[in-house]
Amino acid sequence: MDLVGKHIVLGLTGGIACYKAAEFCRALIKEGATVQVVMTEAAAQFITPVTMQALSNRPVYASQWDAREPNNMAHINLSREADAIVIAPCSADFVAKLLHGRADDLLSLMCLARPLESVPLLVAPAMNREMWAHPATQRNMAQLHADGATVFDVGSGEQACGETGDGRMLEPAELLHDVVAFFQAKVLAGKRVLISAGPTFEPMDPVRGVTNLSSGKMGFALARAAREAGADVTLVAGPVGLPSPRGVHRVDVISAQDMFEACQSQVSHADIFIACAAVADWRVDVPTQQKIKKDASGATPSFQFVENPDILASIAQSERAQSGALYCVGFAAESNDLLAHATAKRLRKNVPLLVGNLGPATFGKDDNALLLVDAQGSKEIPRQSKRALSRLLVAEIANRITQPRSF
Ligand code: CTP
Repeated sequence: MDLVGKHIVLGLTGGIACYKAAEFCRALIKEGATVQVVMTEAAAQFITPVTMQALSNRPVYASQWDAREPNNMAHINLSREADAIVIAPCSADFVAKLLHGRADDLLSLMCLARPLESVPLLVAPAMNREMWAHPATQRNMAQLHADGATVFDVGSGEQACGETGDGRMLEPAELLHDVVAFFQAKVLAGKRVLISAGPTFEPMDPVRGVTNLSSGKMGFALARAAREAGADVTLVAGPVGLPSPRGVHRVDVISAQDMFEACQSQVSHADIFIACAAVADWRVDVPTQQKIKKDASGATPSFQFVENPDILASIAQSERAQSGALYCVGFAAESNDLLAHATAKRLRKNVPLLVGNLGPATFGKDDNALLLVDAQGSKEIPRQSKRALSRLLVAEIANRITQPRSF
């Protein structure tokens, strides 16, 4: 649960996307947040306060004249206890109101009265595509951003009005992701990170091949964590069925050779390379063009294997890596003697940091335990979710690229 201890004031303004706010509210609570809903009069035309009260388990506030507050200052009381105010949906009209500092209803009054330093304002715009594209809206959005608000993207596609284009509010799961990301420390802001993930598939014929049991979950979790930490992330992914982490540039590949080429072409822009993929060590030298058929004699086919290029080792010995402009991190999945193998592998691959783990039992699982090995020694990170591990690992890497350190 990524939002435990966070108190969110969820503001709803008038728009059909209010129907998504119900699910978003639930998603925030499932993630551990407490949620106080504040609605404008227009929002109540689209969804009832009763629905939002039931979902948030708290009475909804809608008026600045609400007599429930002993001091009659709901705008002050509600904003002081919030870790963030999230307006979802945020209408074009409400954006205009926000940036002019208008305060003629409880929600706008509360936004104006919030302590700027300690209560961030997050805005999820929702409107028709023409309204979104209008110069007035775009100008207002830019100003809102300049005033310190975090403005989430809009979705694109079919709109409730029947038109198609930009301006839809993000889906609840996307909003939740962006809110969780907002609270992560931006330890990799401005950094470009390249990550390899998943297995590779080495063809034998057009329908068969050699692969391994890597699920890609760790590499994908790392891509998400690096993105949440503010990095610009490229994920080179072998054949896996995982959805792309939000905001991450993904390059899909099949074979080790494809992965090698994709990583080589992306790495010149990177500050950090994390080789998380379980790359096949060998490929079939010459895969057949046609499917291999069984023959009546029962003879089995035989294959000549050749070694695949070592992506990590070749990138780690590049000039940029050697000069310190590129920080390389390797992984090692071992079945036994983890510390000894990881230590030897770090030296063999010539990388400053190697992350060891005991497999293959961890393949496909949502949790793992890691052993970090660098030139100074080793450090165990106890078993936890791959998402939590990834955040810790990102912090360890950020720490090392800003100030070379030991454990
Ligand atoms: N790696 C790579 N390219 C390869 C093989 C491995 O980039 N052709 C990377 C992996 O992504 C990982 C690290 O090298 O970061 C170690 O991978 P691993 O398979 O554990 O090591 P190998 O070098 O293949 O050694 P062995 O299989 O003998 O343990």
